[in-house]
Amino acid sequence: MNRGRYLTRRHVLWMSLSCLGCAGTTIAHSEGCSTSLTSSSDRSPTANSLNSELPERFPVSGRSPLRSRASARGLIYGAAASSKLVSDERYAAAFARECGILVPENALKWQALRPSPEVYDFADSDWFAEFARDHDMLFRGHTLVWDKALPDWFEEKVNRRNAEQFLVEHITTVVRHYAGQMHSWDVVNEAVAAERSDRHDGLHSSPWLQFLGKDYIDLAFQVAAEADPETMLVYNDRWLDYDISRDNPQRIAVLNLLEYLKAKGTPVHALGIQAHLNASRYEQFNPEQVRGFLRDVASLGLKILITELDVRDSYVQDTIEVRDRMVARMYEEYLSVVLDEPAVIAVLTWGLSDRYTWLSNFAPRDDGADLRPLPLDRNFNRKLAWNAIARALERAPRR
Ligand code: XIL
Repeated sequence: MNRGRYLTRRHVLWMSLSCLGCAGTTIAHSEGCSTSLTSSSDRSPTANSLNSELPERFPVSGRSPLRSRASARGLIYGAAASSKLVSDERYAAAFARECGILVPENALKWQALRPSPEVYDFADSDWFAEFARDHDMLFRGHTLVWDKALPDWFEEKVNRRNAEQFLVEHITTVVRHYAGQMHSWDVVNEAVAAERSDRHDGLHSSPWLQFLGKDYIDLAFQVAAEADPETMLVYNDRWLDYDISRDNPQRIAVLNLLEYLKAKGTPVHALGIQAHLNASRYEQFNPEQVRGFLRDVASLGLKILITELDVRDSYVQDTIEVRDRMVARMYEEYLSVVLDEPAVIAVLTWGLSDRYTWLSNFAPRDDGADLRPLPLDRNFNRKLAWNAIARALERAPRR
């Protein structure tokens, strides 16, 4: 790990911040209260020595939403929508304002669509499709083949003999249902788990792999392409972000898989990078490593989407102000690197407001405090994370 490089980058960030000044930006520091960034309380000392190293402010000019800042650069910004979108008007208004693309967080998973082996229930996912259409947003699908979020009946009904039939029928029915409406589909999700796998190709031992072998992946893409020849077909995966033993073999295995698929003629069009980041891992983010990976993926002729971005602050022991600055710093650093790669066409956060984040169940804090991993706080006010995303989008090279 080259610490000198990080100090230099930090120094540059500080210099750019002091040049830009405050630019009249206001953000919410605590829920429900919007505080000018020039206020002295913003600079009050906090317990952690990190405080002096962190950028204090992430100034942004103007109030325009993320979706327009993204489209001004030829990019797409959006988020995963929880089922609360149906009932929470403030959430729906914020979503419509900020997002140019919507992906249902759970409504297109097998568990939601398949109450029984014979029945497809599109009621919830159709509602999201209509919301997206009504608010002039793109719509994307997550996910057709995954080993999680399977219905209770799956284990009893699906076996080696009928797995192919289930897979083909599911993909055909669901992709046809939305044919012509989907910007892109996550066809296969999380097929690789390199660090944990005992296979040389790092594939994750899912029921699909056990029943059908490695070429379930190719089959899924072929069937999806037949059902909607226009939509963008994405291979989506996690653990691609840091210079750590979990992620280093993962990048290699995912790249190998994509090469394998391209060589086979599989109709895969893009890599989806989940990017569930961690504010405590800032020092383990290695820009050159990620740039190299993105370049390798792009050289296969693939587009890249950042599909599930969030920054967990589950393990940061500090004040809300310091946590927010750490989260924002991770967002800005990550996005400034990935948006430099021209093959990256879209950024979606996995949720929009801290009120509805999957991380409150998945990675709760020991002190029981609310997590703050998303661009908007629990009251739908913009946080430093929002500023960081806005800044990275604005600085991105135009597509
Ligand atoms: C998560 C949802 O956000 C939760 O609401 C649900 O309980 C579990 O799944 N990677 C993925 C997503 O690909 O589908 C997961 O979504 C988060 C991790």
